[in-house]
Amino acid sequence: MARLRVGRRKYYDLFSHFYDAFIRLHAGQDEDDTRHFLVDAAHLEEESVHRILDLCCGTGSVVLAFAKRCPDALLVGCDFSHGMLRKAQEKTAATQAVFVEGDAAYLPFADGSFNVVTCSHALYELKGQAREQALREMRRVTHSHGVVLIMEHEIPSHPVMKLFFRMRLLFLGCREGREFIEGGLQPLKKIFSRVILNHSWSGRSRLMVCKE
Ligand SMILES: C[S@@+](CC[C@H](N)C(=O)[O-])C[C@H]1O[C@@H](n2cnc3c(N)ncnc32)[C@H](O)[C@@H]1O
Repeated sequence: MARLRVGRRKYYDLFSHFYDAFIRLHAGQDEDDTRHFLVDAAHLEEESVHRILDLCCGTGSVVLAFAKRCPDALLVGCDFSHGMLRKAQEKTAATQAVFVEGDAAYLPFADGSFNVVTCSHALYELKGQAREQALREMRRVTHSHGVVLIMEHEIPSHPVMKLFFRMRLLFLGCREGREFIEGGLQPLKKIFSRVILNHSWSGRSRLMVCKE
């Protein structure tokens, strides 16, 4: 298990060098729209103090989108890849965001630390048990009145993109990942008592709004 995690971290360290270019190529303008859609769903206008965690933050695009909308928020990005965290720090250098190295299944934060916790396009890549543990951790570190926002890919409808998507899942060894993406809300309903499903404007992503 430990060896598997080390291998995955190395994969993401390498991927960090061309991750943003890959996303631009794949999603174009839809990327910004998808980030805004996620930030909108946090309903920041409803609270005066914001403590926001973006889990599996990658190169920091979600953190940056929150920082632009809410510069005074306490913004934390967490990821287990040094490479991704380095890119995220560079990208958000002009903001107050902080980044923490950590494994999604063992978060280094106290119970109820945040009122918004997000995780974008990452959970499907975690193995079944690690994913469930990560979901439990997300719930644990979220305040009882807070919200957890989970964004995942829709399965592409274009046959070529669909093939690439499935090949990537295969490459990551994620049979359960495919089941998670196709399996609806059941894995989330096991952890959260309220789960609402939304679809992004572009139709590329779906957003699950989860509350205690
Ligand atoms: C596909 S990227 C998504 C990045 C970002 N959330 C986004 O929307 O662009 C998946 C991210 O999850 C991170 N990750 C994967 N497994 C993890 C784990 N067990 N703990 C922490 N981070 C993890 C990877 O390092 C990578 O940055």
